Amino acid sequence: MSIQNQQTKLNIGLFGFGVVGESLYKVLQSNSSLNAQISKVCIKHPEKKRNAPAELFTTNPEDILKDESINVVVELIDDSEAALHIVSTALSNKKAVVSANKKLIAEHQGSLLELQQIYNTPFLYESACCASIPVIRNLEEYYDNDLLQGINGIVNGSTNYILTRISEDGLDFAQALKLAQDEGFAESNPALDVEGKDAVNKLTILLTHAYGLVTHPETIVHTGIHKLHEEDAIYAKEKGYEIKLVAQAKKLEDGKIAAFVLPQFLKKDSQLYNVRNEYNGVIIESGLADKQFFYGKGAGGFPTASAVLSDLSALRYDYRYEYKKLRYQQPAELSNDFYLRVYVSFDALFQVPHEIFEHIDEWSSNNRRCSVVGIIHFSKLVNNDWWKQNNTSLLVLPEAIVPYTPKKSVQKERELVFA
Ligand code: HSE
Repeated sequence: MSIQNQQTKLNIGLFGFGVVGESLYKVLQSNSSLNAQISKVCIKHPEKKRNAPAELFTTNPEDILKDESINVVVELIDDSEAALHIVSTALSNKKAVVSANKKLIAEHQGSLLELQQIYNTPFLYESACCASIPVIRNLEEYYDNDLLQGINGIVNGSTNYILTRISEDGLDFAQALKLAQDEGFAESNPALDVEGKDAVNKLTILLTHAYGLVTHPETIVHTGIHKLHEEDAIYAKEKGYEIKLVAQAKKLEDGKIAAFVLPQFLKKDSQLYNVRNEYNGVIIESGLADKQFFYGKGAGGFPTASAVLSDLSALRYDYRYEYKKLRYQQPAELSNDFYLRVYVSFDALFQVPHEIFEHIDEWSSNNRRCSVVGIIHFSKLVNNDWWKQNNTSLLVLPEAIVPYTPKKSVQKERELVFA
């Protein structure tokens, strides 16, 4: 059924009735001008109490996927493998699909692109990145690959919320995480948030729309906030920094893309410094416009539902992603050939493989913790997890990617420091 018409009713089959699904339902119930209604909701746990009439619910996906009167499938579940089946079947049945499932989209970009092409059916997912901030359509439509110099973003609301509660209210990690879960910001498996997996899934999607770079999230260096040590927070306070989990992509001189998700110390002059709680912020750097800053709620029922609604209304004018950078331009490649200024902290000096540092800027040691600030070649973080073992924590300094020419005296410098 074509929905390329303002008059055609959007007859929605919804998968999932969690925080976002229920918010979407409430908005559509109270707003008839949208000419859209949810006619069936597929759920996994029928025993849970729901704030909607019982006859709306089913546990059988086919009740939606095989119902010809349903012209749009909205997929808001947390199981990415089940979601792949739902989305693939819906697209092959020529139903438009709106999804918020960043894990699904990031991990299966190749096959999802193929399905959209084969069945010529729209698949929209603005809510999958930064919830209420319209960043995907912006990257897709507005920025030319050549002009887009970089993206720096706080793209996970839960970790930002946790870091804010720890720094402002003095909560410990477990208390802050519990609050993020109670507020409905965290994934049902919160390890996805705190270990940086949700953020790297989002960065993977942004890379496709920014640079036509289609990759798997596991190929991107990432970690979360779970390894941060209280001495790192003390260091940040002394220097006047805020710690944030930042997803970054930067076009290097050779045209390749540096990309990673790592905790970072930020100075007051960064727009991301003041992004607090579940808010997200994205700085887009372009050749002509310099820096532009997008800010908004990155998690939660209504902020996420707002992006789902925007996709639903885009279906009316048959909007679909053209994947312009992928189709009409030379897609970019990832690079590991650049230098980062990092801070590494660890329980004892002997635990750090000191040969990884090209240059040491500063180091300190007390009876609780030792830390080194210096420059490393990014490749030292790839396929090598020295920096994730032995209670080690690694953060990027505010300047992150730095120009550096290796010097011959490096060995001597390292010996002096670690003697
Ligand atoms: N768990 C995610 C977050 C939800 O905290 O950002 C929104 O994608």
